[in-house]
Amino acid sequence: MPKNIFIVLDGLDGSGKSLMVKKLKVYISANFHDVNLLVTREPTSGIYGSKIRQALKKEKDPMKNARKMLDLYCKDRKDHLENLVMPFFKNKKSAYNVVICDRYYYSTYAFQSTQGIEFTEIKKLNQDFLKPNLALIFDLPAEVAYERIHLNRDHKEKFENLEFMEKLRSNFLKLKFLLRKDSIKIIDASLSREKVFEQVKAEAAKLFYSKLH
Ligand code: TYD
Repeated sequence: MPKNIFIVLDGLDGSGKSLMVKKLKVYISANFHDVNLLVTREPTSGIYGSKIRQALKKEKDPMKNARKMLDLYCKDRKDHLENLVMPFFKNKKSAYNVVICDRYYYSTYAFQSTQGIEFTEIKKLNQDFLKPNLALIFDLPAEVAYERIHLNRDHKEKFENLEFMEKLRSNFLKLKFLLRKDSIKIIDASLSREKVFEQVKAEAAKLFYSKLH
């Protein structure tokens, strides 16, 4: 039977996690044998994900439509798990099925609680979703993330607001204590790309070696 490994990278916009997703994919393919690898993301490009992206572009106030966003993110997640992630984990052709997912329910806990929704309400909707084997939360000062986002563009999306991002950062950091059954590791994303990737690699390697036996 193949072993299934589910890794999530999450955190603030502008934390560089999308680059780390790509680098992690290359690292796993090059260093571990007999791995069937899927790289995916939330929000997806499915029907709910497309509605989310429209709202993110169109809306200016980060605090508005919290319930509508919560509902869309959770429906998108259910669809993603049922139609892509779970079927992928049923593959039998390799020793390991590995899914790397860019954002997952950690974003819902952090973003939608920053939007004002109670933790318990978010938990009710997310507690039955598949638990990742490892969640890397990319942490950095909100101002640094904000500057990185706006270095190359003027257009602002819904959640790209400095005050919102400051609260968001502390909500991401709280998850380690609120979701104690999850394997959450905080990555210092304020460092150079090389140093950030060193941390990512170390955590991924630890997980892989623990699964070898
Ligand atoms: P997107 O541009 O796809 O994300 P990224 O910055 O990773 O490229 O936009 C997704 C936005 O939605 C991002 O600001 C985070 C937010 N989000 C939530 O608020 N709740 C969630 O559950 C998820 C998955 C994302």
